[in-house]
Amino acid sequence: MAILITGGAGYIGTHAMVEFLEAGREVICVDNYSNSKPCALERVKKITGKNFKSYEVDLLDYDALEQVFKENKIDSCIHFAGLKAVGESCQKPLLYYHNNLTGTFNLCSLLSKYGAKKIVFSSSATVYGKPASVPITEDFPLSTTNPYGETKLMIERILKDIYASDSEWSVSILRYFNPIGAHKSGLIGEDPKGIPNNLLPYIAQVATGKRECLSIFGSDYNTHDGTGVRDYIHVVDLAKAHLKAIERAEKVTGVEYFNIGTGVGYSVLDIVKAYESATGAKVNYKIVDRRPGDIDECYANPEKAYNVLGWKAEYGIEDMCRDSYRWQTNNPDGYGEG
Ligand code: NAD
Ligand code: UFG
Repeated sequence: MAILITGGAGYIGTHAMVEFLEAGREVICVDNYSNSKPCALERVKKITGKNFKSYEVDLLDYDALEQVFKENKIDSCIHFAGLKAVGESCQKPLLYYHNNLTGTFNLCSLLSKYGAKKIVFSSSATVYGKPASVPITEDFPLSTTNPYGETKLMIERILKDIYASDSEWSVSILRYFNPIGAHKSGLIGEDPKGIPNNLLPYIAQVATGKRECLSIFGSDYNTHDGTGVRDYIHVVDLAKAHLKAIERAEKVTGVEYFNIGTGVGYSVLDIVKAYESATGAKVNYKIVDRRPGDIDECYANPEKAYNVLGWKAEYGIEDMCRDSYRWQTNNPDGYGEG
């Protein structure tokens, strides 16, 4: 029985594919390559020495997606596919609602129709909005500040309603904190289009000389050094959480929510220093105005994931910085023409 991996060619998807294949699981990838390249899957094959099926399919195309279910025995799904850029979601809300929600409707209808009622969904710490305190536990109030976050929260609620209507479902909602780093092989990693929106890809490009200077968005936050604090988690640790989540979904039904973070908060300046010390490279920076919508601090209490899934993060910030740097150095243009 195969696990369907939607968005498997993306940043987190490729790392999860590696962990699943190395654990001996059968996986099938569907991706429309709107934010990824097919060659990323070739790299997954190279790392693992294993083969798997992949389909260029858009989740919005119900008939094409159904064909994948007809041709394979699918038992469960890890649902990564979605658009994820916060800023773009404010410019193009309809694109985000349509892609993320309609894609999920089609997927869930087919998972139900073909009796594969187990799903692990990629949610985000963004569903906690501006948390009243840190660390954040799963029972904190939920709210969002942009259309991207809204799609995550809506999908969480849709999945909850699906289970309420049909108790055969197993739904595991993983709320990721800030995934960074790359596989130690240096073959797969994050490949942002154009100017990176997120901190680590930007730092990696400054450290390797592709960009001149990091702009640090604000130094007057209510944090230990005034710069924003986040819970950075190694993407390989994050990938492993999916394996634990699917193993549990194979045993129990219900809807469960898990914070997937390390429980440790680092400021932007902490990360700059850690990057320099882990890699020996220089990260030039300047302080600029705050980025609208950013919050002071966001880090997880990840105890539930440990207690229920038996998962906890193993890698530290040095590993994350070193692995990010190796990926960027070996692949200055990401996957290139792919
Ligand atoms: P990514 O963009 O690298 O991967 C997403 C993949 O989904 C891409 O390969 C893209 O081509 C594919 N995709 C998008 N829409 C599709 C569609 N309609 N049909 C088929 N494929 C489609 O992003 P990522 O960083 O790997 O994130 C994976 C998931 O985790 C996303 O749902 C994202 O919202 C969520 N998430 C990411 C972060 C983060 O910081 N990276 C944080 C929290 C949550
Ligand atoms: N930052 C800078 N300069 C940059 C980029 C970021 O100073 O060039 C700062 C931000 O102000 C913030 C921190 O670095 O304090 C982290 O910013 P990121 O953009 O890397 O990450 P965010 O915490 O803003 O958001 C990310 C994803 C969201 C997701 C959220 C929680 O982009 O989609 O993590 O998972 F919802």
